[in-house]
Amino acid sequence: MKSIPPNLAWLNLPNLPASVKVLFSGYLIAVGLGLCVAGLQIMLTHGMADGKLGLSLDDIVYSYYGDRSGSTLEGKLNGSMKEMGTPEARLDIIKWARNGAPAAEWETHIRDTFKQHCVMCHGTTPGLPDFSKLEEVKKAAKVNEGASIQTLTRVSHIHLFGISFIFFFVGFIFSFAVGVPKWLKISVIAIPFGFLILDVLSWWLTKWNPHFAWLTIIGGFGYSVASTIMWFVSMYQMLILSRNGKIYGNAWEADLK
Ligand code: HEC
Repeated sequence: MKSIPPNLAWLNLPNLPASVKVLFSGYLIAVGLGLCVAGLQIMLTHGMADGKLGLSLDDIVYSYYGDRSGSTLEGKLNGSMKEMGTPEARLDIIKWARNGAPAAEWETHIRDTFKQHCVMCHGTTPGLPDFSKLEEVKKAAKVNEGASIQTLTRVSHIHLFGISFIFFFVGFIFSFAVGVPKWLKISVIAIPFGFLILDVLSWWLTKWNPHFAWLTIIGGFGYSVASTIMWFVSMYQMLILSRNGKIYGNAWEADLK
């Protein structure tokens, strides 16, 4: 049996005992997979927000700021539903929707306009909103204002709590790396936390002003890069660098200098 030197010379990624390496690398592999799946999920949800595959600035603007140029109802009446009503009926509906879709006018004549031109499909076809009901029409008549404050609050706190946990452990493991200059180690450990806060902040800013959407991209990109560096350096040192049999010395002690 090897005796343990008093300065904890084994306290570094290459020289850790196998049990701790299994713990650290098992965690890193699971978290790495989780981050890939998270990336995929972002592509499939936010990435498709503007109707095209792939994440773009438009997707982020659409998700957080919305499309305030008009309601779905108005958009469709100027788009794929253009041929469905007479020009007068379309104009009536659009004016009514812009006025906030008041119930009084719905009762007097708008209900009939929908009945005449729309309900033969929207009321019979499953999957299409039922336009014989005012509340369904109201939903389509609302201007898309992107994520609600409730959604943003919920996602923000989940994100901050959950992801800082990941960064804490990934950074903790990486703090045992050897041969990384102290300033670089400190930066790579700190950067994800900074960008995480920037990322969450950027959602709120984008909700307020669409020009901030690029901050979301920078935030996400920044913490992905920093955690990828920590991931690969840690795995490399534990599993490959360790094979040369060298004793590297206490990694934390080296950072005290
Ligand atoms: C011939 C059947 C038909 C008629 C009539 C029709 N629609 Fe549609 N509508 C559809 C179909 C199919 C879709 C889904 C495809 C699409 O979005 O273009 C749709 C989609 C919509 C949507 C988007 C729904 C959503 O949640 O994405 C709106 C809004 C809409 N129609 C409004 C109207 C209005 C207003 C009228 C009456 C002036 C009307 N439609 C008449 C078949 C119809």
